[in-house]
Amino acid sequence: MVQPFLGDGPAETAYELRVMASPTRAAASRIAATGAYAPAKVVSNADLEKLVDTSDQWITERTGIKERRVAAPGEAASDMALQAARRALETARLSADDLDMIIVGTISADMPLPACAAFLQRKLGAKNIPSFDVAAACAGFIYAMSIGDQYIRTGACKNVLIVGVELLSRELNWNDRATCVLFGDGAGAAVLSPATDDTGVLSTRLHTDSSLAESLCIPAGGSLEPITQESINQSRDKVNMIGRDIFKVAVRNLTSASRDALDEAGLTANDIDWVVPHQANLRILSQVADRLEIPLEKFVLNIDRYGNTSSASIPIALDEALRDGRIQPGQRVLMCALGAGISWASALVTISP
Ligand code: UT7
Repeated sequence: MVQPFLGDGPAETAYELRVMASPTRAAASRIAATGAYAPAKVVSNADLEKLVDTSDQWITERTGIKERRVAAPGEAASDMALQAARRALETARLSADDLDMIIVGTISADMPLPACAAFLQRKLGAKNIPSFDVAAACAGFIYAMSIGDQYIRTGACKNVLIVGVELLSRELNWNDRATCVLFGDGAGAAVLSPATDDTGVLSTRLHTDSSLAESLCIPAGGSLEPITQESINQSRDKVNMIGRDIFKVAVRNLTSASRDALDEAGLTANDIDWVVPHQANLRILSQVADRLEIPLEKFVLNIDRYGNTSSASIPIALDEALRDGRIQPGQRVLMCALGAGISWASALVTISP
């Protein structure tokens, strides 16, 4: 058994990074445009009933999921990211040449090396700009937003493309009913540009508590445990999750991260027009809604159609609600997400005209 270099000391816990708009700094970023993409193939709960010992009733009642999308053979994460990115750029009336940075939130990149963002840069035809991945799992899109926002606030970048993309169907053990019914494939993107008024990204909060790091992980395939035939036989090269442990933490941490973001901005739940949450489980979200005292009607929900698309879930939901006119310019949106790490994050954004 290979030991990690840092040995067996107590786990590091509870790292948090907070970023607030400050009058002494350059302009914050705004969401100039969004785009999303989901593969055409729909896999319903009825389809999964034929694969594992599960039922539409169990999946619907325990998660809220009715169907999910699955990428076509040969379709890569960067292909899905490309579709979402093109839509965002087109809506922003920008070309790939206008971009100064590409940040991709993903844990299912085309290859372990190099970054998905490198392939996306090439497929977009973007110039030689910094392009990198952020591996913050389901919180990846808010992490990417926070980083992009910093580069815009300092004036170092003008237009930053942020993407959340996951192709988790290839990282799942399709014999494990506890995980294979939950996840789906998809991509969402946003272009961040400097805000020209007081709208835009008001704050982002990033957290990591590693005490539950193994509760949601792919144990084999990294430097600690290279893939062997044995690890494949035990599905240690696929997503392993103790869902019950994460459920409790998700309700608690999504609530606290959201509440803290509101408190720090001097806002209350009543000031929020929409919540665009990571879509992992409808029961998690309804408990968060209760605790925050924000009606579930204000939550943008699409988990029934896409399942849990990890880092892609927030930008897909945001794009849908912006395009169908539910979210309007001037409205205040709270985003929150939690996933492997355990990493979680919240963001407060006023939608720009
Ligand atoms: O986005 C990344 C972060 N992830 C999350 O936020 C996921 C958080 N966790 C969850 O959403 C929930 O824990 C799950 C949906 C994963 C599971 O729901 P649960 O109510 O916590 O179920 P459980 O794991 O406690 O399992 C209850 C029962 C078990 O059977 P026994 O031991 O009581 O006989 C499971 O074997 O449900 C069984 N079960 C299933 N039954 C039918 C687990 N998966 C399935 C299934 N179909 N697909």
